Amino acid sequence: MAEVKSTNIHWHDGDISRDERWNALKSKGATVWFTGLSGSGKSTVASAVEQALCNQGIFCYRLDGDNVRFGLNKNLGFSAEDRAENIRRIGEVAKLFSDAGVIALTSFISPYVKDRDLCRQIHAEAKPSALPFIEIYVDTPLEVCEQRDPKGLYKKARAGQIKGFTGIDDPYEAPVNPELVLKTAELTVQQSVGKVLDLLAQKGIITTR
Ligand code: ADX
Repeated sequence: MAEVKSTNIHWHDGDISRDERWNALKSKGATVWFTGLSGSGKSTVASAVEQALCNQGIFCYRLDGDNVRFGLNKNLGFSAEDRAENIRRIGEVAKLFSDAGVIALTSFISPYVKDRDLCRQIHAEAKPSALPFIEIYVDTPLEVCEQRDPKGLYKKARAGQIKGFTGIDDPYEAPVNPELVLKTAELTVQQSVGKVLDLLAQKGIITTR
């Protein structure tokens, strides 16, 4: 948990409610949290979902692990503490997007149950009411991820050139109760997208699919 150093701060409610904002923008916010090993297909599916939502005129935005580490989280590495802070910040950022009325699509390995649960809690405790948090486990066997190895990182990790690589010499804790499991080794990208859109429709976050 991040140390709280802010003192003498006061929440300011603003003049419009979330409902007023969402109604004015004709949109609804939510966070769709993709978790899984590197190379599991998180970013590919999140990207394709973004495209499909965008085609329907639905306001969405992708927060990608590698990309966010070029900016906001460039000061974080891959120790358990740094990964926890990486995920905490993204949980907070996704909550803000979601509150704004955007569907935030996050693709982070997010290997620890406790860190992902914190993000779920951040959404559950959002004011004035909970925001939807949908955890999607991109369940691709390590062997498949390693065979895909799109960035050549598994090869490097096996050669000992990267220490603490998730799945090789660092842990990945699978979700206990995710809203959806995508077995990307058995599905096309479009089939995975279809499952995500079906779930969003079922939860009333989008109207059609
Ligand atoms: S997380 O564990 O903190 O959630 P995140 O999703 O932000 O990770 O970043 C993962 C990406 O960083 C991987 O897809 C890979 O490209 C790169 N990477 C570099 N070093 C590591 C490492 N030690 N473990 C996992 N991924 C790494």
